[in-house]
Amino acid sequence: MLSSSSRANRWWWDGNADDYQVEHGEFLGDAAFTWCPEGVDEAAAGLLGEVAGREVLEMGCGAAQCARWLVTRGARVAAFDISHRQLRHSQRIDLDAGVSVPVVQADAEVLPFRDDAFDLACSAFGALPFVADPQAVFREVGRVLRPGGRFVFSVSHPIRWAFPDDPGPRGLTADRSYFDRTPYTERDERGTPTYVEHHRTMGDWVSLIAASGLRLTGLLEPEWPEGHERVWGGWSPLRGRHLPGTAIFTCQN
Ligand SMILES: C[S@@+](CC[C@H](N)C(=O)[O-])C[C@H]1O[C@@H](n2cnc3c(N)ncnc32)[C@H](O)[C@@H]1O
Repeated sequence: MLSSSSRANRWWWDGNADDYQVEHGEFLGDAAFTWCPEGVDEAAAGLLGEVAGREVLEMGCGAAQCARWLVTRGARVAAFDISHRQLRHSQRIDLDAGVSVPVVQADAEVLPFRDDAFDLACSAFGALPFVADPQAVFREVGRVLRPGGRFVFSVSHPIRWAFPDDPGPRGLTADRSYFDRTPYTERDERGTPTYVEHHRTMGDWVSLIAASGLRLTGLLEPEWPEGHERVWGGWSPLRGRHLPGTAIFTCQN
């Protein structure tokens, strides 16, 4: 059974996948691995280490641009997303790019893969900010990763929660508590959630990772690159000069 957050987000991403791909598809590339709006590129960052010949899972893959890059680098890849419409875009890009990614529709809280199936798992802003039960996700990642396997994921930097999601000057003044875990929720006229994003503080993420039995081995807070002018939602050069926008965690099973 899907949680109400997962149900809401499946609905939202199905309804917004087309616009999302129009707006961000060119920046993401068809077969490129971009970790975040700051443009950290796996080809240069190497956070996953050697991928050739490895079995890799991409979680909350959207149109699977990252997974497609992994295929071009010789990885054996599976990818999943909760949104059917995002996965339709993945299939469209497979045809355009001539590189196919096997995808499945699934919720990150219950993974349809056997134990010890993967050497690596990764997620670029996929699933983790949207789930009600992150413990279940870490438990599942620990289950499907082989001993010694690596899990790397990016999320909005927790400090962003305290600031308005605005790329302009308004987004530079904190107006709510960093410690307020009340999820950001949009609802329809009947009060049913239609989009839910959950906040975890930096301490929450570290505790979740530790409690799951994974070992935190790295945390990257990318700085806004000189000359990078692209605005993505609340990410902008202006805010990037003052605040971190993304946190990328590396864990070992
Ligand atoms: C911001 S997109 C990131 C996808 C891709 N990495 C990108 O940069 O476009 C977030 C993705 O997470 C997916 N998602 C949200 N909740 C999920 C869940 N519970 N299980 C699996 N995927 C989920 C959404 O459908 C969406 O495709």
